[in-house]
Amino acid sequence: MKTPEYIRGFKNAPAPLVCLTAYSAPMAAALDASCDVLLVGDSLGTALYGMDNTLGVTLEMMIAHGKAVVRTAKSACVVVDMPYGTYEGSPGQAYESASRIMDETGCAAVKLEGGADMEAIIAHLVRQDVPVMGHIGLQPQSVIKDGGYKVKGKSNTEVSKLLEDAYAVERAGAFSVVIEGTVEPVARNITQSIGIPTIGIGASAACDGQILVSEDMLGMTPGHVPKFVKPYADIAGEIARAVEAYARDVRSRAFPDADYVYGVKKQVES
Ligand code: KIV
Repeated sequence: MKTPEYIRGFKNAPAPLVCLTAYSAPMAAALDASCDVLLVGDSLGTALYGMDNTLGVTLEMMIAHGKAVVRTAKSACVVVDMPYGTYEGSPGQAYESASRIMDETGCAAVKLEGGADMEAIIAHLVRQDVPVMGHIGLQPQSVIKDGGYKVKGKSNTEVSKLLEDAYAVERAGAFSVVIEGTVEPVARNITQSIGIPTIGIGASAACDGQILVSEDMLGMTPGHVPKFVKPYADIAGEIARAVEAYARDVRSRAFPDADYVYGVKKQVES
């Protein structure tokens, strides 16, 4: 099983880290062998539950999905997201939530959003032996506060803040950091400036690894998919075509034929 320390070793590695989200046992089974990290992201709120954003995701949801992924993954490092409202209040609240996630799922690490504002919280978790993946740049849990999902690093103020956030997350002891929705020169600058691997999502090839929401890259997301997502499959289309064929067969009574019925001998032609 890949560990947070193994992931930390990918700083400046020749081949970048391969990371994807997984929320369920079948998806974990399909992704595990090719991935270094499986993230049980709170993006499950939108990708799986049809919520408008991730703010309504609960600790119980993350634990249930985390358990399913940990049960199934054999090789990837499984990281579970801490949902909105379960860690920002105080180091004590963060530790209580993180211990529940770690103990009840058996995952290798937790991820939380925030930079300098979360330094004390990350440091507290790390001191208590909870491995933490940071998450800076565009932070979906701040969508209301930020007035939407906005690309980061376009002004000098934002560049300074992003660098400050990256240094804070590293200082606090995180073993890696996700950089989301950040312009290429700034993602490159951060990656060259800190000593832990950066994992980009919409943050260019300059990062030490890449992550995407699996449903987005597999063509399972209805509606808008962000510009940075390359489509690797059309699973929703495949499902629609399979279900159309099934519906045709049921309506014409072509299914189930003798091959799929108990106690019916197939006619053998002489
Ligand atoms: O929740 C999530 O899936 C994430 C990734 C997009 C990095 O945080």
